[in-house]
This record gives sequence, C-alpha cells and structure tokens, in this order.
Amino acid sequence: MNPLRLIEKKRDGGSLSAAEWRFIIQSYLSGQLPHYQMSALLMAVYFSGMDYEETATLTGIMVESGERLDLRDIAGAKIDKHSTGGVGDKVSLILAPLMAAAGIRVPMISGRGLAHTGGTLDKLESIPGFRTRLTPKEFHQQINDIGVAMIGQSDRIVPADKKIYALRDATSTVASIPLITASILSKKIAAGVDGLVMDIKTGCGAFMARMEQAEKLAQSILRTAVANALPTVALITAMDQPLGNAAGNWLEVLEVLQALQNRGPDDLMKVVYALGAQMLHLAEGVSQPQQAQKRLQTLIRDGAAMDKFLQMVAAQGGDTRILRDAGKYPMAKFQQHLRSHQNGWVHEAHALKIGYAVVLLGGGRRTMNDTVDPAAGIVLQKKIGDQVEKGDILAVLHTNRTNVISEAARWMRSAFRIGPEQSEKPRTVLKLLT
Ligand code: URA
Repeated sequence: MNPLRLIEKKRDGGSLSAAEWRFIIQSYLSGQLPHYQMSALLMAVYFSGMDYEETATLTGIMVESGERLDLRDIAGAKIDKHSTGGVGDKVSLILAPLMAAAGIRVPMISGRGLAHTGGTLDKLESIPGFRTRLTPKEFHQQINDIGVAMIGQSDRIVPADKKIYALRDATSTVASIPLITASILSKKIAAGVDGLVMDIKTGCGAFMARMEQAEKLAQSILRTAVANALPTVALITAMDQPLGNAAGNWLEVLEVLQALQNRGPDDLMKVVYALGAQMLHLAEGVSQPQQAQKRLQTLIRDGAAMDKFLQMVAAQGGDTRILRDAGKYPMAKFQQHLRSHQNGWVHEAHALKIGYAVVLLGGGRRTMNDTVDPAAGIVLQKKIGDQVEKGDILAVLHTNRTNVISEAARWMRSAFRIGPEQSEKPRTVLKLLT
C-alpha cells in the first residue's frame, strides 16, 4: 500500500479500511512510516473526522499493537476511570487508591501531559523512583496483591498509543473526537477492565470547550465501548478553571496528599466522589450517590485511602519517605507572587491560559523531546467566586527558569478577570451520560 494514497483518501473525507489502518499502524511502529507522514494523516483525521465504525476499527487495531492483559483470574470487579484531560486534574491519583481501599481492583493505564493539560504519568514520576513502566506480569501481580497499579503505555502495552500520543501532542492534533476515543479506549481494553467511568471535561481548559462537543465525545466513547462490550458511563465535568488549586506535577502530588488527609479542595473532592460513586455503581450496583460518597469519605478520614496510595507508591519503586516529609522535596528555585491590582470578585481563572503558563514554567512539553520539570507549576490562592482585595496574592508561580517568568506572569495576569459584582462558585459536575 502507498501511504500517500491513504493520506489523500483521509484528507478528502474518505474512510480507511481495517487493512489500511493496520498497515499504517504497523508501518509507523516499525519506523517505515516517518513522523511527517503520520503527522499529515493525523491532521487529515483532525479535519475529516471518522464515523463510529472507523473509530472502532482504529481502536481495535491500536489494542492489537501490543499485549492484551487478562485479569480474569483475579477476584473482584476491575473498574477504571479516565479523564479526557484538564489543568490541575489530579483526580486519578486520589481516586485509584481510594477505590482500591473500597475493595475494587483498579488497573489503570494513563498518559502523559498533552498540550496545556497535565498527565497522570508525569505527576506520578515527580515522586522520586516511581516506575510507570511495569511489565504485564508485574502489573498483574500488583493488581492481585494490592488492588491498584498505575502505569503508562509501553513497547508491550498499546505501543501504538504511546507513539501516536506523543506525536499528537507535538502536532496540535489532540482535540479530535475519534483520536481521543481510540487513544483512551485502546488503553482500557488492553488493560482488561470490566467497567469504565469517563470524566469528560468541558470548558476553556478542555479539548472539548463547548458542551455539545463534550457530549459528542461522550457519545463516541460510549458507543465504541459498547461495541467492545465494555460497560461505561460518562460524567461531564467543568474545566473552565483548574481543578483544585495546584497545576504542575509535584505541586499536584502535594495537593493529592492533602486530599488523602481529608483536606482536599471542595471542587476537586466533588469530582472525586461523583466519579467514585459511579465506579461503585459499576462494580457493586450501589446506586445511591450519597451512600457511596459517605463510604468513600470514611475511607479517606480513617486513612485507608492514604495507606493504599503509599502501598502503591512503594510497590512501584517510589520514595514514600518524601511523601511523609514533603518539606525535603527540592522545590523550584524561583517563586513569584501574582497580586491583584484591584478589589472585587474573581469571575474568571482561565484554565487554558493557566495551562499555557504551567508549560512555559517547565511543567509541560512543547516538543516530543522536552523533559518536564517536576517542581514547576502554579498554585492558585484565589478562584472563581472568591472575594479579593488589591494586593492579595492570586497565585504563586514556581519555576527553575528565570527567563520565562515575565511571560508566564503575563499569561496569568490575563487569565484572571476580577469585577466589582459578586461572583458565584461554579458547579463542577455537570451531566451524567450512560
Ligand atoms: N487522554 C488520552 O488517553 N488520550 C487522549 O487523546 C486524550 C486524553
């Protein structure tokens, strides 16, 4: 097959067959199809889209690119959660150990930061020693022994997503409904889960900024999951401002530790409990969200979720001493306060602009070979609905790069809108789709 003809076909709105997608994925993985042709094809998909059938075909071929894990010999329901990506979204780091503490098995295959959004793997790797690459055997063993493992795509598990994910990040081809669907579901199907709860983000910091687009993405994921016999529910949640207060890898781990000590910010915990209730529903049929929330709150209050988090970190080689004594972590050399120039109420803390500032400070990537600085990021001290006085700190910027501070501060200044009228705290959980 000639890849040029396939790129042209997609560019002109056609659908590629299973054989054509298999050829593309295999040639890309073997290095025969160069990045530039794959980039062109991804951009063609971005503009031309795919119907459900082609999306399901691509998903299946991406699963086939590596090993499919079989967790059937492990007792209990294996349920996972995945987010479509946002700024300050550290939910997985809290929810995975929390659900394992509730007795559910959580085999989680996550991704790195994409564009202005953070990635679970980058956050976990900010913990010294944490290994996000386990062999399929180690992953299986850990799910059996402690109920939770969090890893990334690898050369053995969904290698197609590993390679294409990094390329999409560097070519502005992330925000495509079929590509997001295939990327997420290939990881979940390969992990061998029994059920999935999706957190579909909408708002300026999400890949689907408008509710109609978020609903379309949810429909695409639900239909493709059903075609693969994977029971899935989707919650649409708000991503107009960062979730919680911290955005940036280690800074988010610090907020996770607070959340696991029952001191998590309200907006973050609402999303954690709403998704957790759906995971319990899929696993055990618990259908009362309040009842589910109470049970999960108890697991946080009595320390069971924190214990599970520490067990998981230790099992994956991470340094748990630094988690117990976080003051010893090497923080960024420069910390700059962004202060309010006026009195009033915060009406906007624009997640996309804050995400750009985090990337500039070193917390994200701009090219495929960039390394992420674990200490870089932003801690918000004011969010939408908060009252501020002139001179109050709105946010603290953390970086090891002096040359970017003024540009990042400009993004941050433009992210905040403060007005004289009182503003309301926005809702975080917007819609449930089954
Ligand atoms: N998360 C993923 O795993 N893939 C995407 O494409 C977007 C979010």
